[in-house]
Amino acid sequence: MKILRTITEIRATVQAARAEHRTVGLVPTMGAFHEGHLSLMREARAHNDLVVVSLFVNPTQFAANEDLSTYPRDEARDAALAEAEGVDVLFAPEPSEVYPDGFATTVHVAGITEVLDGASRGIHHFDGVATVVIKLFGIVRPDVAYFGQKDAQQVLVVRRVVRDLNLDVRIEACPIVREADGLAMSSRNVYLDPDARAQATALSRALDAAHAVHDAGARDAAVIRTAALEVLDGAGISPEYLELRDAETLEPVATTRNDTLLAVAARVGAARLIDNHTLRGDA
Ligand code: PAJ
Repeated sequence: MKILRTITEIRATVQAARAEHRTVGLVPTMGAFHEGHLSLMREARAHNDLVVVSLFVNPTQFAANEDLSTYPRDEARDAALAEAEGVDVLFAPEPSEVYPDGFATTVHVAGITEVLDGASRGIHHFDGVATVVIKLFGIVRPDVAYFGQKDAQQVLVVRRVVRDLNLDVRIEACPIVREADGLAMSSRNVYLDPDARAQATALSRALDAAHAVHDAGARDAAVIRTAALEVLDGAGISPEYLELRDAETLEPVATTRNDTLLAVAARVGAARLIDNHTLRGDA
C-alpha cells in the first residue's frame, strides 16, 4: 500500500490506473479506523481495481467549540489496518495541501443541511463536508465512493451535491456496523468512560424499541418517537434531537407511510453520539 500526501502524486497514480481501464473506488475518512470504516474498505475492495482511502481530519466541518484538536489520530495504526484490507493507496494530505492560502470556495447545499445535525452542529458542518467531499472527488476522480449509513444525513447531502453538480461518481451507502451490544461504531466512542459506555447503549436500544413499535403496526410518528424517548429517559439521556423525517427529503413526518429516517443525537459523557434506523414504508 502506498501512502501519498500530495495531490500531484495521487493524480498520477489514479491516472495510471485509468489508462489501464481500471476502476477506482474511494473511501473518504477522518481516520481512527474501526469496523465501520473497514466495512467500507472491504466493499470498495470487492468492486474496484484500485482502492483509495483518504485520511483527512477536515477542519472546516468542525465548529470552534468541537473536538478538532482532540480528534483521535493514529496514522500508523490506520495505515496497517487499511493495508490489511488490501487498500492500494492511503491519501493522507496535510491541511495546507487541501486548503492552501487563499482558498475561498464553499459548497453549500440548501434545505436538507438545515435540520438534524445541521441544526444541532451549525450550518458550517455540512458546508465543510460537502466542500471537502467534492474536492476529494475532484482530486481522485473515483468511479464509486463509499459512505456509511451511520451518517445518514451526510449520505443525502453527498448524493444531492452529486446530482445538482452533475458529478460523474456513483455513491454507495453501506449499513451501520455496531458493537455486540448495539452501540454504533464511531471514532468518538473512545471518549466514553466505562459508565458513559454503558449508558451509550441506550441510543440503539431506543431505536430498536421505536422500530418494534413501528413493526407492530404503529404509523403515528409521535407514538413511535415516544417509545424511543422512554428508553432514553430511562437511561438519563436527553437527546439533542430525536426525530422522524422522510428518508429522502428530510421533511418532518407525522405518519410513516414512506421510508422514514428515525435519527437521534445525544451527548453521553464526553462524546456526542449519533445513530439512526430507517423505518421501511408501506409502499
Ligand atoms: P468518518 O467519521 O471518519 O467516517 C468515514 C466514513 O465511515 C463515513 O462514510 C461514515 O459514515 C462511515 N462510518 C462511520 N461509522 C460507521 C459505522 N459504524 N458503520 C458504517 N459506516 C460508518 O464521515 C466522515 O469521516 C467525514 O465527514 C468525511 C465524509 C470523511 C468528510 O470529511
